[in-house]
Amino acid sequence: MDNTQNTIVQNDFAVDTIEGLTSDSKYLSSKYFYNEMGSKIFQDIMRMPEYYLTDCELEIFSNLKQEILASFSENNESFDLIELGAGDGTKTKILLSHFLEENANFKYSPIDISSDAVLSLIEDLRTELPNLKVNGLIGDYYNLIGDIKPNGYLKKVLLFLGSNIGNFNDSTSFNFLVGLRKVMCSNDLLFIGFDMKKDPNIILNAYNDPYGHTAAFNLNLLKRINDELGANFNIDEFYHREEYNPDTGTASSYLISKIEQTISINNLDQNIHFEKGEKIFTEISQKYDLDMINDLAIKSGFEVVRNFFDERQYFVNSLWKIKP
Ligand code: AVJ
Repeated sequence: MDNTQNTIVQNDFAVDTIEGLTSDSKYLSSKYFYNEMGSKIFQDIMRMPEYYLTDCELEIFSNLKQEILASFSENNESFDLIELGAGDGTKTKILLSHFLEENANFKYSPIDISSDAVLSLIEDLRTELPNLKVNGLIGDYYNLIGDIKPNGYLKKVLLFLGSNIGNFNDSTSFNFLVGLRKVMCSNDLLFIGFDMKKDPNIILNAYNDPYGHTAAFNLNLLKRINDELGANFNIDEFYHREEYNPDTGTASSYLISKIEQTISINNLDQNIHFEKGEKIFTEISQKYDLDMINDLAIKSGFEVVRNFFDERQYFVNSLWKIKP
């Protein structure tokens, strides 16, 4: 670590951290959860039964893979399958192996902000699905959209699974979707996972688990600030809290200071004061109903082609095309 005076770190993480922690209501961005440790903890989250989202989407893919392939590609037309935020690809593999079995004509391009995730996914696919054509990309999909080119010849099917969209607030999800529509041609498709509104207790249990995985995931943000920006957060002096508003469908994660304390962020030459009980807002995990999904599609220039549900209707994979 470089402790030379006047050496101020300047990167997105540093700039966003300072902006969030010096704001009146403190916040940090959930996109910084996914360093090596965070991606590992997220895998633990996805494997626990309380985090029903994984099982629901797996169920949809297993039960409806035929219909999904048929709606991606009529008459075996070739397509480019681009996954935004691929992670470890566990769920997608169900679709990929089915598509290969059916001799579908496609290439798979996973994009993820975590280089560890992309590299191990590629490695893994090479052994598990050796016939799959893969082209991995590392980066923030929000910024990489610009690199996806409209292409009238090869159909694009964009995957945005796992209710990743839930991490965006209203205006960010709108901007994101409009950005996607701009790189899509008339024949292209967007396949998005949305977590549905449901019994608030089921939602709270998924984000406040008994094993402490979600707490560790959230607190890892402070560790990351310690490691990368030279801060002295004592992780034990903060705790994880989840709130859910059934009217808006918004689940929110917070880190709460157990005591009054001042933290210094060495590399940024900043002190941050916390009152006892003060919150840092870290993540939104939005839940939806069908009206909200329809409105979002229409507002951002899309049309819902078909919705694929699990048995309990906890989750939906919604297939969209651009509005002519
Ligand atoms: C990866 C954004 C879908 O919000 O459900 C899981 C991340 N946060 N547990 C979600 C997360 C806490 C997850 N997404």
